[in-house]
Amino acid sequence: MADKLIPLKIAGIGYCVPETVVTNDDLTKLYETSDEWIYSRTGIKERRLVSGNENAIDLGEKAAKDAIAKSGIDPEDLDMIIAASAAPIEIYSMGCQIHKRLGIKKQVPAFDISAACSGLIYGLSIAKGLINSGMYKNILIVATDNNSKLLDWTDRGTSILFGDGAGAMVVTASDDGVDDIISIDIRSDGNYDHLISLPFSGKNCPLVEPNDVLPSTIKMNGRGVYAFVVKILPNYVDNLIKNSGLTVDDIDYLIPHQANVRIIQAVQERLNLPDEKVITNLKYYGNTSAASIPIAIVESVAQGKVKLGSKVVLCGFGAGMTWGGAIVRLREGIC
Ligand code: UT7
Repeated sequence: MADKLIPLKIAGIGYCVPETVVTNDDLTKLYETSDEWIYSRTGIKERRLVSGNENAIDLGEKAAKDAIAKSGIDPEDLDMIIAASAAPIEIYSMGCQIHKRLGIKKQVPAFDISAACSGLIYGLSIAKGLINSGMYKNILIVATDNNSKLLDWTDRGTSILFGDGAGAMVVTASDDGVDDIISIDIRSDGNYDHLISLPFSGKNCPLVEPNDVLPSTIKMNGRGVYAFVVKILPNYVDNLIKNSGLTVDDIDYLIPHQANVRIIQAVQERLNLPDEKVITNLKYYGNTSAASIPIAIVESVAQGKVKLGSKVVLCGFGAGMTWGGAIVRLREGIC
């Protein structure tokens, strides 16, 4: 264990989204809805969904390779893989699947965390502790979700929201004394578990309970989630900034979890941020769970909306209920 804290560097960020686009108009073939209804309540116009055999591991592999290439590190130098997934294709374990796909020979620890849409910030918080303490140097975080295969496509209140996608970050020990995570905080309140759930639908031994179990799907009380998040998140993000010793003027951009544009606007209004400082891309991807923040970072940098060398607030929330926030520096060259 190091005597003093080892600073963390965000070395590379990558993402991958599937090719197949499903628009709001397409969804009218499934149930009674309209582009106007969906767009006005959520800000979503279309989402990307996996097709054929494509799955969250494929997306995660591509996002991981993208992040690793940008970080400039050799995959063999990674010494931990954390997979954040709430809609995995393989419960034992997405992290190990990514390890295999990357062709890494070293037998490094790889494991999954499940904090739903807060997974990327939870993973970043774990990685920060392990790097700051000196236990690990180079950690890959892969957030990848296959929401489309866990949705009830007859439930028009829930299935309109989600899309598939993956994002990845390589974080390393920093050699210039600067920690790119200025502040990070993660929270949960299990008393609100009923707002979004995905019950396990395995069958018991037939000698104990002979029954048929229907495959389970994501169940969401949309109005309840909205009310809960709008109540806690704006103040939470405001306090995160204040507690870090910064002011809102020090923040260049807000890059929030992309779940609902009205929730993002509530945070924006609380912080009194102009539109150009608030990044949204859910119009084209819907809610890609834990992947939404890294996808939004890389895409907004590529589009010139976010300049590297800036200070950014990340915040997210998800099933559990979980939530979290981080103030990070985005260095030149990381995406
Ligand atoms: O990581 C997960 C994060 N989850 C969220 O962020 C969810 C946040 N919540 C929301 O985004 C909104 O609650 C929704 C967009 C999901 C739903 O909007 P809402 O304004 O809360 O609608 P509602 O569920 O209260 O439903 C209002 C009406 C209902 O009809 P009645 O009972 O008033 O006749 C629904 O049946 O709208 C109906 N409805 C729809 N109508 C057309 C529900 N979904 C649809 C639909 N198209 N897709």
